[in-house]
Amino acid sequence: MTPSRTNPLSILGIETSCDDTAAAVVRGTEILASVVSSQDEVHSPYGGVVPELASRHHMRNVLPIIDQALHTAGARLDHLDGIAVTCGPGLVGSLLVGVSVAKALAVAKDLPLIGVNHLEGHLLAVRLEQEVPFPFLCLLVSGGHTSLYLARDWGDYLPLGGTRDDAAGEAFDKAAKMLGLGYPGGRVIDRLAQRGDPAAVRFPRARLKPALSRVAGPALSKFGPEHGRGITGTGKYGFSFSGLKTALRQFLQVQGRTTFRDEDIAASYQEAIVDMLIEPTLRAARELGLERLVVSGGVSANSRLRRRMTIEGEHFGLQVFVPSLKLCTDNAAMIAFAGAWHLARGQRASLELNASAVLPL
Ligand code: KG4
Ligand code: ZN
Repeated sequence: MTPSRTNPLSILGIETSCDDTAAAVVRGTEILASVVSSQDEVHSPYGGVVPELASRHHMRNVLPIIDQALHTAGARLDHLDGIAVTCGPGLVGSLLVGVSVAKALAVAKDLPLIGVNHLEGHLLAVRLEQEVPFPFLCLLVSGGHTSLYLARDWGDYLPLGGTRDDAAGEAFDKAAKMLGLGYPGGRVIDRLAQRGDPAAVRFPRARLKPALSRVAGPALSKFGPEHGRGITGTGKYGFSFSGLKTALRQFLQVQGRTTFRDEDIAASYQEAIVDMLIEPTLRAARELGLERLVVSGGVSANSRLRRRMTIEGEHFGLQVFVPSLKLCTDNAAMIAFAGAWHLARGQRASLELNASAVLPL
C-alpha cells in the first residue's frame, strides 16, 4: 500500500535524533516547509556531538522551529492529519525532546501520533523527489550508520550488512578532528578534497571476506516478497573504517602535513572511504540481481561519492538515485513522509511511545 495520491495526508514531522533540530510539513510528496536548525557551532569546539548539550539545545529550539515550519507552510496544527516523530535510533536524550513535544501536541490537538524509525526516513527520503520502484538496494550512510538494505516494498527492508566498527560519517568526522578542521567533518573534507589529488596518499582499503557468499546466488536472483528470505545477511556485505582511521593517525604522526598538502590528504582519505563504500554495494547489486540503487543518509551528500556511485553504478547497469542535498542530511520532511505511510495503513503510536537509542530497521 502506498500513501494515497488522491487525498494526500498532511503531516507535521519532528526530528531531534542527533544534533539537528528539524520540523517539516509534508502533504503527499509535497514539502510545504522543512526547517533545520543546526547545532554545528555548539559541537564544533569538541570535534563531535556532546549529548548533554544537544538535548539542551533541542529543548530551546524545538518549539520555535515547529512554529516556523507551520508558518512557512501556511498550516495550522488543527488542520493536519497527524504528527510524526523520530523515536530512534539516536541519542536518547535528544530523541526524548522530540518525542515529548510530539506527544504533547498530539494530545492538545487530538491528532494521531506516529513514531518513525530515523533509518526508514533516510531510506524513503528519495521518494519525496523521484519515483523509485521497489525492489531497490539502499546504501544508507550517515554519521551513525553504514548499512545495505534490500528494500522489497514499503515497510519491508532486509538488512544485508553493515559496518563492523565506525560508520562512514564517523570516519569523515574523526579525520577532520585529527586535521583540526572542526565538526562535522564530512562537508569540510569534501570541500577541501575538491582541490586535492585522490592518488597522493595510498591509504589501505579494508575488504571484508564475503562470509556468506555461497548462501546468496541463485536463491536470491529473483524478486518478490520472498526475495532474500533465509539470510540475515549481517556478515555478507560488511564495511570497516577503523583501520583507515588508524592509518591516517599514523600517517600524520610519521609524515604528516609537512610532506603533503591538507587538500591531498583529504582527497586521498575520502577516496579510500568511497572505494570501500562502492565495492560491497556493487557486489550486492550484482549478486542479488538488482537494477536500482538508492544512496541515502548524510554521507550521500558527499560530492565524490555521488559522482562515482552514479558513474560506476550506471556502468554496472544500475539506475542510481541520490536525494538532493537537503534530503541527504537529517531533516524532518523524510520523517513526515515515512509517518504518512504508516498512518495511511492505520499505524499510529500510543502515548506510551518511547525513545529508543537502538532501534533496528
Ligand atoms: O544523516 P546525518 O545528517 O545524521 C545521522 O543520522 O548521522 O549524517 C551526518 C553525517 C556526518 O558524519 C557528516 O560528517 C556527514 O554525514 N556528511 C558528509 C557530508 N555532509 C555530511 N560526509 C561526507 N561528505 C559530505 N559532503
Ligand atoms: Zn540521519
